[in-house]
Amino acid sequence: MTETVHVALGDRAYDVRIAEGLIGRAGAEIAPLLRRPRVAVITDETVAALHLDALRDGLAASGVTMTALALPAGESTKGWPQFTRTVEWLLDQKIERSDVVVAFGGGVIGDLAGFAAAVLRRGVRFVQIPTSLLAQVDSSVGGKTGINAPQGKNLIGAFHQPSLVLADISVLGTLTPRDFLAGCGEVVKYGMLGDAGFFGWLEKNGPAMAAGDRAARAYAVRRSVEMKAEIVIRDETEQGDRALLNLGHTFCHALESATGYGDRLMHGEGVAIGCALAFEVSQRLGFCSQEDPSRVRAMLKLMGMKTDLADIDGDLPDADALIVLMGQDKKVQDGKLRFILARGIGDAFVADGVDMAVVRSVLAEGLAARG
Ligand code: GLY
Repeated sequence: MTETVHVALGDRAYDVRIAEGLIGRAGAEIAPLLRRPRVAVITDETVAALHLDALRDGLAASGVTMTALALPAGESTKGWPQFTRTVEWLLDQKIERSDVVVAFGGGVIGDLAGFAAAVLRRGVRFVQIPTSLLAQVDSSVGGKTGINAPQGKNLIGAFHQPSLVLADISVLGTLTPRDFLAGCGEVVKYGMLGDAGFFGWLEKNGPAMAAGDRAARAYAVRRSVEMKAEIVIRDETEQGDRALLNLGHTFCHALESATGYGDRLMHGEGVAIGCALAFEVSQRLGFCSQEDPSRVRAMLKLMGMKTDLADIDGDLPDADALIVLMGQDKKVQDGKLRFILARGIGDAFVADGVDMAVVRSVLAEGLAARG
């Protein structure tokens, strides 16, 4: 069964389809968008090896041909060199204003290809076919596109909504357990920030979902996408509520920067640890109950996810240095850090003027527990 979540953004509205086997039906899904039966696919070498033949067949079944560029896999692709290569390749492929670019991969590919589509000939349409859990529940929906700068993550980009998102649940079966669990960081984030009922569902069903239960995976993706769509519809360009989606991210970005944006800490792992830290800070500041941070940490551990600073291998800088790294966060406003804190599970809010002494002590205690 195909579930559809509609992202009602007026003339930029689109559907997110969630089902098993969507890649095999990609041609039928995408053909209604096309002026000519041809698409340009941006992917990475890992996804290409696993799934590009299936996508080619799925498009050909409806008479759509494709040309593809496979970039190196990994976060280091998401910078100017591979972005320039992609835009020039699309021009070489004679992609016209009325054509459609397909972003086929995880968050790196979706963000980079979406940004390339945003600037190519002043904007061409694009379709997201996310192949990681993180991309299915977060980055493929909502139109944030971009690349990293030497100064920090995602600092260069544009809002450019996709024309369609195809979340094929079956590809999640090819992810490593670590990749899948990292994506769960973004899934549990939705429960923590705005739906205590979903958090409770995850407490019961999270382990089965992590173990491969397909119905549980489909439900978790759908509920996450619904929540993301609701927030994006309210606040497309992050003037207000959309910032709630960044629960855990101020901490996460500092930790990713400290660990070199690499294998030591995946983004979703940093989000999970960041959410646990955000609840700890919320409790110390008297916003939420003493039980909430423990419940958050218990749920992350139940799923087998990274939870604490102690779960990050290798050296980390001290609390003051982590706070300096937080200063590169996109949520810095008038030079001041903004945090997403919580009044309880399912009730996050944007907090300005947070007492940094409390943040420092929560970080210092977490670092000390690393032994
Ligand atoms: N990933 C956060 C957002 O899309 O706003």
